[in-house]
Amino acid sequence: MVAQRPFLFVINIVVLTGIVMMMTVRATTDAPMFIFGDSNVDVGTNNFVTECGAKANHPYNGIDFYYSTPTGRFSNGKNIVDHIVRLLGSYQVLSPPPFLALVSQKLTFNRNILRGVNFASGGAGIFNDTGRVHFHKVITLEEQIQQFATVRENITTLLGSPKAADDLLQSSIYIFNIGSNELIEYPFNHSISDPAELKQYIANATQAYAVHLTNMYKLGARKFAIIGIAPLGCAPAARIRNPTGGCAEFMNDGAKLFQVSMQYVLTELSLMLEGFKFSLGNMYTVTMNVIDNPRGNGFKEVKSACCGNGTTDCEVGVTLCSNRDDYLFWDKFHPTEKASELAALALVYGEGSEYVTPMNFSSLAMYG
Ligand SMILES: *[C@@H]1O[C@H](CO)[C@@H](O)[C@H](O)[C@H]1NC(C)=O
Ligand SMILES: *[C@@H]1O[C@H](CO)[C@@H](O)[C@H](O)[C@H]1NC(C)=O
Ligand SMILES: *[C@@H]1O[C@H](CO)[C@@H](O)[C@H](O)[C@H]1NC(C)=O
Ligand SMILES: *[C@@H]1O[C@H](CO)[C@@H](O)[C@H](O)[C@H]1NC(C)=O
Ligand SMILES: *[C@@H]1O[C@H](CO)[C@@H](O)[C@H](O)[C@H]1NC(C)=O
Ligand SMILES: *[C@@H]1O[C@H](CO)[C@@H](O)[C@H](O)[C@H]1NC(C)=O
Repeated sequence: MVAQRPFLFVINIVVLTGIVMMMTVRATTDAPMFIFGDSNVDVGTNNFVTECGAKANHPYNGIDFYYSTPTGRFSNGKNIVDHIVRLLGSYQVLSPPPFLALVSQKLTFNRNILRGVNFASGGAGIFNDTGRVHFHKVITLEEQIQQFATVRENITTLLGSPKAADDLLQSSIYIFNIGSNELIEYPFNHSISDPAELKQYIANATQAYAVHLTNMYKLGARKFAIIGIAPLGCAPAARIRNPTGGCAEFMNDGAKLFQVSMQYVLTELSLMLEGFKFSLGNMYTVTMNVIDNPRGNGFKEVKSACCGNGTTDCEVGVTLCSNRDDYLFWDKFHPTEKASELAALALVYGEGSEYVTPMNFSSLAMYG
């Protein structure tokens, strides 16, 4: 019923700093996709978490979404995982809905979970404690994985056989985007001028990430599409605290260390765990290439936020730009829909190892 069915499609052209990727063939899959992470990929989870302080279900968020609806996405329109799912999927046009939304619609729950589920919660991090002080309550990565374990039981019941459920879950794609909030909270508990401490912290975080991924493997996951951390030090929130307006170096260093450390951790996991396949997206390079060459990538403003001045959240009353597609940043931390689409194209179709290793998301999805 949900076997992989490749489709043929036509042409897309991406220019990322002079590199032209011509895609003549587009293979897609109808395998379910499960999404875990933070505000970069949250599609409304936090709307259901009453006590949570990290919410985007209010204007101007969603101003360019269907009917200008704020959905809980931290974006003017779609976010990166909406684009990834649309590019990989043979029928999906957006991310699957939030788990908490599906649970609240009992009649359609069983039908919907077979298409995939999004568990991501804005403010969440790799560690249990991340997000708690600033946002009071978020759905931690650990809880997101517990929710997936429930969905797995529901799928097993539905398909009537553990074997059928295992087959489906092994062919599914697991997209992770987490770790940014560890870097954002880092200065509250650590010295930003001690490189050794930062290195140890990132090593701790990626080790904890590996434990979560191993738990996912034990639950039957095999295909991991991991999105790294963008150069958050160049986000409007970080630049505004810098008297020169430049990027906050410790945050960018942290993002780079995270990438290297994840490459190592994921390679180890793939050697230890039979059938573990991964694809690691380099959001640092993808985003930095736009910052270094805005016009070549179709942007005009890569420093300031479209919504707000870099200190406040995006909400009614703050400044709002009219030419959203010219901006890299939507709000003080999150990219615009346009920037997210460019990044998604690089991760899904990227050639070589600059943007995604050891294979692009498209190859991961079609694998096996
Ligand atoms: C994380 O929090 C959950 C409860 O929210 C708890 O059961 C679990 O032991 C914690 N994990 C760690 C590693 O502290
Ligand atoms: C899903 O599974 C959980 C755990 O087994 C169960 O409590 C819940 O009722 C199931 N949901 C549905 C809709 O069957
Ligand atoms: C950071 O420090 C605060 C107190 O200043 C504490 O409440 C919080 O749990 C700490 N966060 C982490 C991730 O350790
Ligand atoms: C890394 O983890 C170790 C062991 O849990 C802990 O003692 C140390 O403080 C952590 N270091 C940082 C910088 O978070
Ligand atoms: C940014 O906007 C907020 C609210 O709109 C305002 O209070 C603050 O002074 C502004 N900050 C700067 C640096 O312009
Ligand atoms: C994705 O990666 C595969 C394997 O490295 C490569 O053959 C392919 O050209 C890349 N791009 C697309 C669009 O699949």
